[in-house]
Amino acid sequence: MRVAQPWWLDAVGYQVYLPSFQDSNGDGWGDLPGLTSRLDYLCDLGVSLLWISPFHPSPMRDHGYDVADYLDVDPRYGSMSDVDALLAAAHDQGLRVIADLVVNHTSSAHPWFVQARRSRTNPFRDHYIWRDPAPDGGPPNNWLSHFGGPAWTYDPATAQYYLHLFTADQPDLNWQRPEVAEEVDTILRFWFDRGLDGFRVDTAHYLTKHPDLPDNPTLAPQDVPMLGGVSAQWLTQEHRYDIQQPTARAIHRRWRAIADSYEALLVGEVYILDPERLATYVSADGLHSAFWFGLVESEWAPDKVMTMLRAAVAAAPNLSWVQSSHDRPRSATRYGGGPLGRRRALAVATLLMGLPGIPFLYNGEELGLTDGTIPPGQCQDPLAGIDGGRAGRDAARTPMPWSPESGLGFTTARRAWLPFGDRTPADTVARQRRDPASPWSAARRLLRARARTAAWRAAAPVWVEQTSGVVAYRTGAIVVAANLTDRSWPFDPGAGTWACEFDTDNPEPSEVPRELAPTQAVIVRPCQEVG
Ligand code: GLC
Repeated sequence: MRVAQPWWLDAVGYQVYLPSFQDSNGDGWGDLPGLTSRLDYLCDLGVSLLWISPFHPSPMRDHGYDVADYLDVDPRYGSMSDVDALLAAAHDQGLRVIADLVVNHTSSAHPWFVQARRSRTNPFRDHYIWRDPAPDGGPPNNWLSHFGGPAWTYDPATAQYYLHLFTADQPDLNWQRPEVAEEVDTILRFWFDRGLDGFRVDTAHYLTKHPDLPDNPTLAPQDVPMLGGVSAQWLTQEHRYDIQQPTARAIHRRWRAIADSYEALLVGEVYILDPERLATYVSADGLHSAFWFGLVESEWAPDKVMTMLRAAVAAAPNLSWVQSSHDRPRSATRYGGGPLGRRRALAVATLLMGLPGIPFLYNGEELGLTDGTIPPGQCQDPLAGIDGGRAGRDAARTPMPWSPESGLGFTTARRAWLPFGDRTPADTVARQRRDPASPWSAARRLLRARARTAAWRAAAPVWVEQTSGVVAYRTGAIVVAANLTDRSWPFDPGAGTWACEFDTDNPEPSEVPRELAPTQAVIVRPCQEVG
């Protein structure tokens, strides 16, 4: 009997940062009907799986990653019937949709927390993690918030501290309490019953904490990663007791059983760069897949990046590949900005498209967007306040530039929730669609090449050692290659005659180039496979 392949095996994912994707009602916020109106665009581009950032009622202290009601829709984004309409339209067009599951913490405005902080004996008190002050009146231990400062906030009304690994508006749930797990099971079922195809599990490895809440070890100064930014303080500790506790896996197992009964997908946000440790979260009874953030964290350092990527590919067959997200500067910016940064990002994207697992684009990546400009004083990200007034994560979150007119085709409002980012006409979908040499045209050709070559690819790529600066691998009959250096190199896919399925530099490739120019990338196949 032929075992049916999971539907997501050949998917191409696309992250929709909802507030910035498409506004339909002129209030300056992207919304669900706006997204529905752009499904044609996404299908035409060639993606098959959408991940939508949180759309639940939220005080927006972390732009939706602070959920006040998991079973409803924030009016800024639309209504429950807009979710139904989105799912129906997406499924009609063969698109799958997953949403964020943010249950390490809730918003402090969630009714559970509102109850919990009323009194020490409130039935919801233990939905969260409360402790008495230390003998000196300070926080109960030395844990830090990811976003700076202590992970504890004192609540004068009940004279205890509550734990929050993110902002004080995001109290951590107490996953030792069975009622919390039961509530979240209900949330999963609620959305699967409505037709949602899965979840991106936010901070999937943070859920449980060491029950005794011991102090984390402080790192010696020479061991602290020099990454700076809002996580600078967080990185001064070894996070031995606050995150990555083995008990989180029992929660993943529980969710996996529910997800499998709906054939739904769970992709974890597990921010562990070491591929082998990351891979332990992806298993037959754990998460189906997990994002590997090695590329998202990298500047342009091709040797280092490729060594890491190869290790990640070897570690697990079903990782999800990303170069950009709403949390970090865009890849084209990190890789040097301008046309060069854009070309480098496309070359790396080409390498990702032949790998087993799920490649994801972050909205606007198909346009080769660099970070938007945020004028001083107009930041929205709470992290900007912490990060010395810098833009925080806003620069990667500015509205999608659909067309050159005012409002970028994103909104009819004069202002959007976030500045437009100083986009040029050449950045817009409308212009790029008409230009066969644009990043959008290349991305669309790349996604088509991935779809065409699906049956020829194998589960595990074999890296081809080239005596040059070309990085290449063979997967089944296909060879994927990219020149990540700044000079041309000869390219030889091996014995036989080859045809070109995709060439970054040539919209209508006929022959396989014998030489790859700087940042040129190709996907080639043997001629005899044409059939
Ligand atoms: C995840 C999200 C990020 C958010 C954080 C806290 O890392 O990607 O945007 O701030 O979780 O929920």
